Amino acid sequence: MSIISKDISKAVQLLNAEELVAIPTETVYGLAGNIYSEKAIKRIFETKKRPFFNPLIVHIPSFGMISDIVSDLPEKAKLLADAFWPGPLTLVLKKNQNIPDLITAGKDTVAVRIPNHPTTLMLLEQLDFPLAAPSANPFGSISPTTAEHVNNYFKNDIKMVLDGGPCQRGIESTIIGFENGEPIIYRLGSTSKEAIENVVGPIQIKNKKEIAPDAPGMLDRHYAPVTKTILTDNLSEALQQHQGKQIGLLLFNSKIENDAVAYTIELSTSNNLEEAASKLYDALHELDKQNLDLIIAERLPDYGLGTSINDRLQRATVRA
Ligand code: TXA
Ligand code: MG
Repeated sequence: MSIISKDISKAVQLLNAEELVAIPTETVYGLAGNIYSEKAIKRIFETKKRPFFNPLIVHIPSFGMISDIVSDLPEKAKLLADAFWPGPLTLVLKKNQNIPDLITAGKDTVAVRIPNHPTTLMLLEQLDFPLAAPSANPFGSISPTTAEHVNNYFKNDIKMVLDGGPCQRGIESTIIGFENGEPIIYRLGSTSKEAIENVVGPIQIKNKKEIAPDAPGMLDRHYAPVTKTILTDNLSEALQQHQGKQIGLLLFNSKIENDAVAYTIELSTSNNLEEAASKLYDALHELDKQNLDLIIAERLPDYGLGTSINDRLQRATVRA
């Protein structure tokens, strides 16, 4: 029997029983459990094979619940929450004492967001606790944007994927932390830097190459297909260099005629970065299934969501 189901009340039952349920959000599917259940939270880390130093995001249904989670809300955090919640923005704030150390990896801050997906908002409203939910993929691999992607990863390990259809945004939330009350981007994502700057003014992106980074989604290699993948600004040169290989192409909107190319995915024929973001991970999952020697990804324009997509492609293509 398939573990994929639209039954919200079954998800409520499982979560109340300290089990894990994969949940849809507007960004990617999450692997969710009760933040106050040590059993559930440990299972999240085990199931993902995720190191315990990597903290989890807490998902709440409404702004009214924020004071249960955080002890301090800087003015600019409030502005950002007003502007983007529910939506693909995560705020890292000083945690309340009752937030378990397992969630925050012992840090004194906690990551929190209100996801913008009707099914998951309904689910959260029926629970007496918030949900911790990292992306529902094994650590380091491509994030899931459909119930089927999650099923392929975890069908033997979890009891249910709550099906909310394909994720509309398709890359993870943008994460913002605060230092001396000033916001800093810890992870680029579905809310563009420009959109954030419209609300709080110029904002920095924190150094991405730390060894124990503030947000391990910023680790060099992450979001990666099994197939060797490279990122290029110059498609014809990359094709030249890899003659004789079975090649898959991940293009923004270029047209390429080349006999060596076994499989091509175009992310947006209409030049639309939002559309490209929404299709990115599904395209990588698809390309990874084709038994290719090499995936060549074309770098996108470096503004708006293009910058966030390039960040993911960069990490998908760094070899360990
Ligand atoms: O869109 C998303 O954010 C998805 C959906 C399911 O909500 N979730 C997600 O979770 O991407 P995950 O666990 O794959 O990525 C969460 C990131 C990690 O890089 C983690 O290090 C960072 O958030 N994070 C969590 N708590 C933090 C904290 N207290 N300080 C700094 N970074 C934190
Ligand atoms: Mg993740």
